[in-house]
Amino acid sequence: MLITFEGIDGAGKSTQIKKLVSFLTSANCEVITLREPGGTEVAEKIRNILLESRHDISPTGELLLFSASRAELVREVIEPALKARKIVILDRFFDSTTAYQGYGRGIDLKVLESIISISTCGITPDITFYLDIVPEVAFGRKFSKTSLPLVFDQSEPDRMESSGIEFFKNVRQGYLEIIRLNEERFVIIDALLPANAIHHKITAVLKERFPLELPS
Ligand code: TYD
Repeated sequence: MLITFEGIDGAGKSTQIKKLVSFLTSANCEVITLREPGGTEVAEKIRNILLESRHDISPTGELLLFSASRAELVREVIEPALKARKIVILDRFFDSTTAYQGYGRGIDLKVLESIISISTCGITPDITFYLDIVPEVAFGRKFSKTSLPLVFDQSEPDRMESSGIEFFKNVRQGYLEIIRLNEERFVIIDALLPANAIHHKITAVLKERFPLELPS
């Protein structure tokens, strides 16, 4: 089973993934957790190129690098894990490409569709949790609570995070449009709810939709 998490930077995906993994492993499920971009030796190198803020990368180059990282991860890790009937939890997958490179950078959605289908070998998540938050709040949470544009008091912004608030507003609108077109696969969750409430919602939905694969 493939479970993916999506949302703009600062939505709180990592916290929820950690909670879900410990819930599933304590119920003896075999779980693999991965994040995109990255997850293989080559994909991690591509990740560094993509996120290092000193690199200036064109939108097309960016799309192809995210897709190359995905192609490696799918073939080396995701496909074999799914064949072995493991639960794969993935922090971002191709919806990020549609939201960020499509709606954010403005690359033609038809072009994206064909590149995504090559990079994923046609693999689609069984369920996708989208943590919804507006960029102003997400950035405030991730970085400085006091100032926009940003004074970063927790960590330096990576290359993607330096794309500006308008970019992230477009990315969020993109996610909402992707969800409208794929309602049956997505679960939208208000990212401002307390972390434990979000976790309970996620496990409740999973138990309801996948009663055989998951602990009751
Ligand atoms: P990461 O530090 O993993 O961010 P987060 O914790 O928010 O998931 O960095 C990944 C960045 O890459 C993030 O800004 C989203 C972006 N991204 C794309 O633009 N396209 C993609 O296809 C993927 C997978 C990620």
